[in-house]
Amino acid sequence: MAKKLWGGRFTKPTDPSVEEFTRSIHYDYKLAKYDILGSVIHVEILGKAGYLKPGEVYRVQTALLKMGAGKFSPDLSYEDVHSQIQGMLEQKIGDLALKLHTARSRNDQVVFATKVYCKDKLAQVAILGENLTNALKSLAKANSDIIMPGFTHMQHAQPVYLKDYLGAYVMMLEAGVDKVKIAATDIKLTMGAGAVAGTPIKAKHYNVLMDKYAKKLKLGLTGLKLEPTKNSVYTVSDRGFVAEALNVTAIIAAHLSRFAEDLIIWSTKEFDFIDIDEAFCTGSSLMPQKKNADALEMIRGCAGRLYGNRIGFLTIIKGLPLSYNRDMQLDKEPLFDSFETIVKELKVLKGLVKTLKFNKDKIESQLDDESLYATDIVYHLVNKSVAFKTAHEIVGKLVRYSIDNGIEIKSMTDHELSRFSDKLKNKEIIRLFDPKVSVESKRSVKR
Ligand code: ARG
Repeated sequence: MAKKLWGGRFTKPTDPSVEEFTRSIHYDYKLAKYDILGSVIHVEILGKAGYLKPGEVYRVQTALLKMGAGKFSPDLSYEDVHSQIQGMLEQKIGDLALKLHTARSRNDQVVFATKVYCKDKLAQVAILGENLTNALKSLAKANSDIIMPGFTHMQHAQPVYLKDYLGAYVMMLEAGVDKVKIAATDIKLTMGAGAVAGTPIKAKHYNVLMDKYAKKLKLGLTGLKLEPTKNSVYTVSDRGFVAEALNVTAIIAAHLSRFAEDLIIWSTKEFDFIDIDEAFCTGSSLMPQKKNADALEMIRGCAGRLYGNRIGFLTIIKGLPLSYNRDMQLDKEPLFDSFETIVKELKVLKGLVKTLKFNKDKIESQLDDESLYATDIVYHLVNKSVAFKTAHEIVGKLVRYSIDNGIEIKSMTDHELSRFSDKLKNKEIIRLFDPKVSVESKRSVKR
């Protein structure tokens, strides 16, 4: 094991089983860029506080920025990413690197790095979410004339426009993206907590504009402002921002899972509403005819995985005493996994949506089902001053009679209809069985 950031008081080496169990470098190396950003800023602060001379500030920052510009490969002989960056810096600039950890603790460092990581990933999710929203909007627009059966309980309910069905997912996604943006803005970047009690450095030195460093590290984040911590105990203890990131990604995953399920159902032979492009499907090793929507099935399933990440993490922090405890290290894997998974899902869906084809004839052939217009007959009676509940009962009996006798309502004579209500006339109700009339009569908000 490479040199640890601690060890002076120890006389025995760490047991290999503990070393293996507690190490996080194999996953937290993904924080390298963000941790290097934190270190570069910390060096500026050390300069302002007089712990480093201007020339030293320059040398340490230059070495760190160079490290941040290259590819960062985890070295498993280190405990964590913070230790590896320190170790690499020592190799590059020698003893001067030993001053980097002045007035700093990994407890504060890891919060900063994880917060910037979250901001970065939330920004990426917001962009990909908007891309998918736009793809869905175009799909809805390109198929704006298609009317389909609306379902409740998976049963035929009333005709609706396909564009409204897709528009529902657009709105869910837009709400998700809004939540993602709020979560990102809510994350305030601070330093100065030390291990728990703060540092001897004056608060004013912690006011740093970070954009120039973020730019050098090609982070793509702007408007980054560092502030002094208002409460050092809070800073090292709180992981509400992690919970929030896991929450918003889980909510989006839930919406994507429902969308995936709708598409899977629509692609079955029984429905045949859509044709999913071959590039987004896979085959079977045994059945040569198969074209399966595996990617959609995984999107459906991954919601469970993202819920698991969220609830697993919330369980870890439940009952955790203040302030920092090593349990908190266990936030990384679920956090990384949720972000990486949702990013993949959004990318796959965008491509799939862009190439999706609707089988207009097949969808509209479903609209012959008379039951879809039963509610329209109820409204027809209501317009003739029949109370809604009474009208509902009348049409219910009419539907029952139609099923029992195998007679379409459309083809019933006035005499037959009068058994249910003298206000039902064949000539008047026949026009109700028109999908467009049905949809337009209820679409009070024009979209
Ligand atoms: N790898 C640790 C984490 O993710 C960093 C902080 C370790 N601090 C400590 N005092 N052991 O939480």
